[in-house]
Amino acid sequence: MSNTAEEKNQQITATEPDIVSLVQITDCHIFAEAENCLQGVNTRHSFEAVSKAVIENSGHPDLLLATGDLSQDGSTESYDYLAQKIDAMGVVTFWLPGNHDDSETLQERFIGQKIHSAKHVLIADWQIVLLDSTIRGEVHGRVSETQLDFLHDCLRAHPEKHALVCLHHQALDTGSLWIDQKGLHDSDQLRENIARHDNIRGVLWGHVHQETRQSIGGIEWMSTPSSCVQFKPDSKEFAIGNEAPGYRHLNLYADGRITTRVHRVDSF
Ligand SMILES: [Fe+2]
Repeated sequence: MSNTAEEKNQQITATEPDIVSLVQITDCHIFAEAENCLQGVNTRHSFEAVSKAVIENSGHPDLLLATGDLSQDGSTESYDYLAQKIDAMGVVTFWLPGNHDDSETLQERFIGQKIHSAKHVLIADWQIVLLDSTIRGEVHGRVSETQLDFLHDCLRAHPEKHALVCLHHQALDTGSLWIDQKGLHDSDQLRENIARHDNIRGVLWGHVHQETRQSIGGIEWMSTPSSCVQFKPDSKEFAIGNEAPGYRHLNLYADGRITTRVHRVDSF
């Protein structure tokens, strides 16, 4: 099947043409069974608290991005549940897979009125490119040549638009040895490819279950807390953090600026 940027893109209208309001929810780790918990957290309950907080704190964003590990077990039940809950939020949603997802089941079952599978989104003065960094059966990730070609095709097709690039695995190390070893192998190659374009303003990911943000070379590099369990920052070995579940809100401006903040569900 052909895989060109033009065939896969989707045009969305922003509520305000000068500001695109965007929410990222990531690493929901939903189980087939409603009562199951990850590290003591019921991931359905925490997701519902986070989705409620999105509507309360961030109004009605133009877009929602779900950036992988949507399911813990790749089950049809987990995607059916999440699709129903996300559709109920009433926000146009795009997604990409994480290492815990079953890509085929995700594609088949994570469907709804508001849920789209396009990987190149055009909105106002911006484009969002969603890359698949997963390798079947592996925890770590890699951005394949096919995905890099897709990125270049998208950006070359719309050089006039600012770009936000999204993927599941971390494009920059977090400083936690254990999770960085399970991060994006060949991340240098991704960064070299990103540097070849002068319209990329932000790179956004999940996987590390913690908030990070760095401005390097005119690009905002950002990771976002999980909607369930957090990982302890700067820990050499696997350790759970005590931060609350959360999500990230971004405003993308017509001049290419990004403002962003993480919201936590303090009451959870
Ligand atoms: Fe995760």
